[in-house]
Amino acid sequence: MKRAIAFDIYGTLIDPMALGQALERMVGDKAPQFNAIWRDKQLEYSFRKAVMKQFNHFTECTQQALEYCDMLLKTRLSSDQKSELLEMYRKLPAYDETEPCLANLKKEDVEIIAFSNGKGDDLTSLFKHAGIFNYFNQIISVDEVGTFKPSPEVYELLVKKSTSIKDNTWLVSGNAFDIIGASTIGLKTIWLKRNPDMVFDPFGIPYTLTVGSLMEIAENNF
Ligand code: 2OP
Repeated sequence: MKRAIAFDIYGTLIDPMALGQALERMVGDKAPQFNAIWRDKQLEYSFRKAVMKQFNHFTECTQQALEYCDMLLKTRLSSDQKSELLEMYRKLPAYDETEPCLANLKKEDVEIIAFSNGKGDDLTSLFKHAGIFNYFNQIISVDEVGTFKPSPEVYELLVKKSTSIKDNTWLVSGNAFDIIGASTIGLKTIWLKRNPDMVFDPFGIPYTLTVGSLMEIAENNF
C-alpha cells in the first residue's frame, strides 16, 4: 500500500513568523517580541480551548492572541491595522523549500495530505496564494473533530482519512508538540528541526526520524 505523508502547515510548510516587516512598520522595535508572543499565545489559546472543550476556529485563536499582544505591549494598533495583519495571516508565504519538496514528492507514489489546526478556508487561501494548492491529495482541518492538536481525536482523524494503513501514515511537523501528539497514538513521525537551536520536549515520547530540511523528505530517504 502506498505511503501517506501528512504535513503540518504553520511552522512546517507555511512560515507563521513572516509578518515581521509589517509589524515593524506598525510597532517599530517591538516587532520581534510581538511576533514571538503572538505565535506562542495563539498556540496556548488552542491548547487551552482544547482542554476546556471550548472550540472555536483557529482564526479566533490568532485574532485573540493579536489582541492580547496589543494590550500586553501597549502598541495601540488601530482596528484597521489589526484587520490588515489578520488578512496578511491568510496569505503567509511558504518556506523556500516547500514547493520543491512537494513537487518532488508528487512524482512518487505517495498520498500528500495537509493536516492543520487551520480553518478550511484559511488553508485554501494560504495554499492558493503560495501556489501549492494542487499538490495536496487531501486537506484535513481539525475543524472536522472540533478540537485542536495535540488532542488524540485529531490524530485519529488523520488515521481515519489517510488512504494508507496507520503503520504507513507519517506526520511531518516542525512543531514538537504535534510530533509528540502523533507519536502518542502510534503514527510514524518526522520532526523537522529547521533550526539547530530547537529543543524537543523531554516527555520521553520519541519521534521516528528527524530532518533538518524538507528537502531530505523529498529525497525520500526513509
Ligand atoms: C498547524 O496545525 C500546529 O500551527 C500548526 O498548522
